[in-house]
Amino acid sequence: MDRNLALEFVRITESAALSCSRYMGRGDEKKADQAAVDAMRQAFDDVEIKGTVVIGEGERDEAPMLYIGEEVGMKTERAPEVDIALDPLEGTTICAQGGVGAIAVIAVAEKGGFLHAPDTYMEKIAVGPKSKGVVDLDKSVEENIEAVSKAVNKPVKNMTVVILNRPRHEDLIARVRKMGARIQLIGDGDVSAAIAAATPGTGIDMFIGTGGAPEGVISAAALQCMGGDFQGRLQFRNDEERVRAKEMGIKNLDGVFTIDDLAKGSVMFCATGVTDGPLLRGVRFEAGRATTQSVVMRSKSGTIRWMDSDHDISKKPKIFTGNINGEL
Ligand code: FBP
Repeated sequence: MDRNLALEFVRITESAALSCSRYMGRGDEKKADQAAVDAMRQAFDDVEIKGTVVIGEGERDEAPMLYIGEEVGMKTERAPEVDIALDPLEGTTICAQGGVGAIAVIAVAEKGGFLHAPDTYMEKIAVGPKSKGVVDLDKSVEENIEAVSKAVNKPVKNMTVVILNRPRHEDLIARVRKMGARIQLIGDGDVSAAIAAATPGTGIDMFIGTGGAPEGVISAAALQCMGGDFQGRLQFRNDEERVRAKEMGIKNLDGVFTIDDLAKGSVMFCATGVTDGPLLRGVRFEAGRATTQSVVMRSKSGTIRWMDSDHDISKKPKIFTGNINGEL
């Protein structure tokens, strides 16, 4: 994959973020998501790839755009064939409530690089480069915390573990509290949390718990670029989901997926902040201009680029700056 493509992908996440950020705090999750999807879909048309969405907005019959299997990009003869995992607005509730850490995100791999994860849940663990190889979802949370504590050379009481604040995590939270680790409970947005565990300066040592399976693949792509570690295990809510996963070709229904099972080979990842978060600043509007902050990374080089952009709104197509139906 041409490394310059990474910068093309940033334009896509920037467009999605600019567009949906208009809906920040307006209480309308659907419109915020739609704005991000519309902008992202259109922005793909300017990128010279033959892309197939493998993690997207849902199945073809339930999502009009960016559905699983949709082909995106310019699709010219010489365009590279790539698989795409995307979430135009990761944290729809966060954006609708004007909360912390909504992002627009895309991960790209060579054909066959991503696990085609079904839209179910996934038990996850994410850690930074120092803890690579020391965690194992088949071990207890206590063993994993001890292992990370040793790897990052911090007593457990100084560690910070991020967990989604959900009733399903009651036992997990109690066990981590008993270990004496500090906990950051988040309302939504576990992709950001997983990335934060591998980002120096965030103070976050690990992310654990159950969230969306598609988000698990996207997180694994980011951590693959950052040299961190990630494991996931599918959690089905019912037999239908299990059957669906089988139909999608998943063989390892109950076992642990390593980071390489989820995102392998040459992988690129990019995200743009929608609302302010621990990783990325959200979109800000000034007179006639808007600023965005993004991160772009590639597994091949291991380079992580933080990018600030200043956009002239009058020169952007309306679809990239919200105001889609002239309602804002
Ligand atoms: P959306 O942006 O699709 O709403 O996802 C937000 C999110 O918090 C993810 O980060 C997380 O993986 C998932 O939802 C958790 O699912 P649930 O809210 O059902 O517990």
